[in-house]
Amino acid sequence: MKALIRLLVGILVFMTDVVYRNRPYPRFYVLETIARVPYFAYLSVLHLYETLGWWRKSDWLKIHFAETWNELHHLLIMESLGGDRVWGDRFLAQHIATGYYWIVVPLYLLFPRYAYYMMELIENHAYHTYDCYLTTHEEALKMQPAPQIAINYYRDGDLYYMFEEMQTATRSEFRRPKVDNLYDVFVNFEMMNLNTLKQ
Ligand SMILES: [Fe+2]
Repeated sequence: MKALIRLLVGILVFMTDVVYRNRPYPRFYVLETIARVPYFAYLSVLHLYETLGWWRKSDWLKIHFAETWNELHHLLIMESLGGDRVWGDRFLAQHIATGYYWIVVPLYLLFPRYAYYMMELIENHAYHTYDCYLTTHEEALKMQPAPQIAINYYRDGDLYYMFEEMQTATRSEFRRPKVDNLYDVFVNFEMMNLNTLKQ
């Protein structure tokens, strides 16, 4: 089963890495659209279990909702940077996401451990993608302002309480991340990927 999951994720990664080799923001937009899907699937299945009266896992619902909220803001940030401007990119991202959702739902129903494994591979890939981008474009990113949606999410406003749910770090700098420029925004993405991988 793990080999099959690695193959599926490998195809997905190959597609995004090849098709979007020279277009970072559309690539990140596609990745973020896909990154939300496992949490949608987990929430759907957990709600189903509760609706059927089988078992209740309200703490799991809470954490997975916080994770979708976090991914939603990654997606909004990518949209604000123009990642979703081309119809073909939106078409591809949403169709991959739909197919992925219907893979994860039965997987989570039958083999939840493998569904988490699949998500771990994708989060891992996202972490390395952002890490590589940060390293290569550090100076240029530090010259660009953080999008307003990133400032709202990471620093200001009522959105913040859901961000707190995501935190596993005890050090205060991770709980109150810097968001002075676009570089900081990508660093925060990385921190969130790491937190998800630790959970
Ligand atoms: Fe993300």
